[in-house]
Amino acid sequence: AATLGALGRKAGLRIGTAVDTTALAGDSTYRETVAREFSSVTAENVMKWQLTEPERGKHDWAAADGLVDFARSHKQLVRGHTLVWHSQLPAWVTEGSFTPEELREILRRHVTEEVRHFKGRIWQWDVVNEAFNDDGTLRDSIWLRNLGPGYIADAFRWAHRADPGAKLYINDYNIEGVNAKSTALYELVKQLRREGVPVHGVGLQGHFAVQYGFPGDVAANLKRFDDLGMESAITEADVRMPMPADNIKLQAQARGYSVLLGACLVTRRCTDFTVWGFTDKYSWVPDTFEGEGAANVLDENYAAKPAFDALRQDL
Ligand code: XIL
Repeated sequence: AATLGALGRKAGLRIGTAVDTTALAGDSTYRETVAREFSSVTAENVMKWQLTEPERGKHDWAAADGLVDFARSHKQLVRGHTLVWHSQLPAWVTEGSFTPEELREILRRHVTEEVRHFKGRIWQWDVVNEAFNDDGTLRDSIWLRNLGPGYIADAFRWAHRADPGAKLYINDYNIEGVNAKSTALYELVKQLRREGVPVHGVGLQGHFAVQYGFPGDVAANLKRFDDLGMESAITEADVRMPMPADNIKLQAQARGYSVLLGACLVTRRCTDFTVWGFTDKYSWVPDTFEGEGAANVLDENYAAKPAFDALRQDL
């Protein structure tokens, strides 16, 4: 049977997964599945600042470089995730006492050094992650508080200077449908592009939950970004459910995945559909959402769930 990656190629899409590099090293079924099914990969954690620069000035690129090498040897593209975020920051950043000017220089160096390190090896960077609140205001973060809203444009300019070949994305959750948050993000990128800021794409994370239902206007939302000439991607698809799983929930889950993939398929510049992990054996969901789980397309024994068949069918 054709793999997701091969089916995606025919549809003009890369099909990716977030990769847990510990599982990649220690679990051969996991490793073989990443290599076989996917045409792009995202580091689930190892490109985050907390892991790349745990002590000021002391970089550790080993795990991320290993993933990039793995991807290259399997002809996969790499999404870089993520440069500017409020979460998973090194303690020396969050607990240090810096002036706004110092913090701006710290962030500039971080973006520049990380993008430069991977120059030529990253297809798309999630430059700014989760900058908005659900009501469309900018999220209160160390960056907004100290640097003001201009940190977003600055981050894109710094990243572009460090690797002019990489496509630069703004990424967020709860922006799949048309709502206050996605509209605020849309207005921001429209303004930034008018000002010549190099923001090339919008990433819809796509963390869905069966008990909340799925927006019906994902394609309409993507179309307005497409009409700006922007790329788009589904960057972190998973569809969780209250545990235990049952047939009804698994069918609903399959529909959730189809909603995201279908919207990407009908959007001209939607370039890739990435799942946030592919097996229930390794998932961030049970650790993050109490009582929920089973969010991925393969079960904990790597058997296909209805969602996996739905993706294959839709492609
Ligand atoms: C999550 C990882 O999956 C977890 O392993 C980690 O403990 C926390 O971060 N949105 C994002 C991702 O942009 O980086 C998050 O990844 C999931 C939510």
